[in-house]
Amino acid sequence: MNMSYQRSFAFGAIFVLVLCSSVGQAQLLPIFDWVRSFFGNYEEPPYQLVANLSDTIEERIYPAKRWACTEQFLTPKAKDTKRSEMFMSLFAYIQGKNDGEQKIDMTVPVTTKVDHRNGDLYSYEMCFFIPQEFQANPPRPENRNVRVVSFPELHVYSIRYGGYSTQELEQEQMTLLTTTLKNASIPYFEENQGPRATYFVSGYDSPTKFWSRRNEVWVLGKDNKPLPTHVPSVD
Ligand SMILES: *[C@@H]1O[C@H](CO)[C@@H](O)[C@H](O)[C@H]1NC(C)=O
Ligand SMILES: *[C@@H]1O[C@H](CO)[C@@H](O)[C@H](O)[C@H]1NC(C)=O
Repeated sequence: MNMSYQRSFAFGAIFVLVLCSSVGQAQLLPIFDWVRSFFGNYEEPPYQLVANLSDTIEERIYPAKRWACTEQFLTPKAKDTKRSEMFMSLFAYIQGKNDGEQKIDMTVPVTTKVDHRNGDLYSYEMCFFIPQEFQANPPRPENRNVRVVSFPELHVYSIRYGGYSTQELEQEQMTLLTTTLKNASIPYFEENQGPRATYFVSGYDSPTKFWSRRNEVWVLGKDNKPLPTHVPSVD
């Protein structure tokens, strides 16, 4: 069992335990702290910080990178019922359910790209950043519901907030972000503005971390290239 496997396994096992039981988080906290202290931090996608628009709002440019993603079409009400299924599909991929049986390190954030489709239906595409080590040649997922997606360079406006993210918190932060952008006359893609009307919700912590949690909502600047949809973009 190598380090990356242990780290992924610990992350996933704790995630599942917490999902399965609404009690017991307090007991798990020391385990997670132990894992963190032992294995250090998770790799994050690189980005350029262009500007600080407030204490919590940043303008960033993420270079084009590959992510491992899985997508479901759901109503906002149903989205939470599929979250663990999506997480576990991606988690299995990094644990070796891929053509090279390669173990890939867990990264942060776990980000979900949200696209409004029609009526009540949204596309929720959960993604793990593929570590630099595998960027050039990511192994092919075994599960047909997981695909390697090449995102183009992303020009994003990000708002950061703490606590356990909920739909209400997300909406509240989204409103704060978009109000700030509008006020500063910064153009961005709004919901219901067509195929690029996308936003991202990102989480950086395991569910057992209580303090200094980091969540973000990202909206896209109007100069972004269209994002890939539905087609595997590697091979
Ligand atoms: C944004 O704020 C951080 C922290 O205060 C600072 O280190 C950084 O230089 C600022 N970046 C820009 C582009 O203004
Ligand atoms: C909007 O911009 C003005 C002038 O730049 C500033 O004084 C005001 O606080 C801003 N309001 C919000 C909600 O950001």
